[in-house]
Amino acid sequence: MLTVALVLLAVPLAVEVRQVSASPTHLPVPPEKTIPNGPMGDAIRYGRKVFTQTQIYAAPYVDSGLNCSSCHLDAGTKAYAAPLVGLWRVFP
Ligand code: HEC
Repeated sequence: MLTVALVLLAVPLAVEVRQVSASPTHLPVPPEKTIPNGPMGDAIRYGRKVFTQTQIYAAPYVDSGLNCSSCHLDAGTKAYAAPLVGLWRVFP
C-alpha cells in the first residue's frame, strides 16, 4: 500500500521537476531589420523602447521603477519568462 502511494506521489513530482528544469529558450521572432520604414515602423520601434526602457519612455505610468522587460525577459521573447510572442492572435 505504501509503495503504491509513493508511486502515485512520484509521478506528478517527476512531471513537475521536468517542467521546472526545462531551459528557457528564445522564441522565433522576425529579425529587427524587417521592421518597415515609415509610420508603422516608427510605432513598432517606439513600442519596443516603451517595453524595454519603460522608465525612460513611460515612467509616469509605472510607479514600481520596473521596465516591462524586467519580467518579460529579453523583450518578451524568452520562453517560460512571460513571453508575448504570438499574443496578437489572442486579443481581438
Ligand atoms: C512584475 C513583473 C511584470 C512587469 C513589470 C510587467 N509584467 Fe506583464 N505580465 C507579468 C506576468 C507574470 C504576466 C502573466 C504571464 C502569463 O500568464 O504567462 C503578464 C502578462 C502580461 C500580458 C498578457 C500576456 C498573456 O499571455 O495574456 C501583457 C500584454 C503584458 N503582461 C504586458 C506588459 C507590459 C506592456 C508591461 C510594461 C508596461 C508589463 N507587462 C510589465 C509580469 C509583469
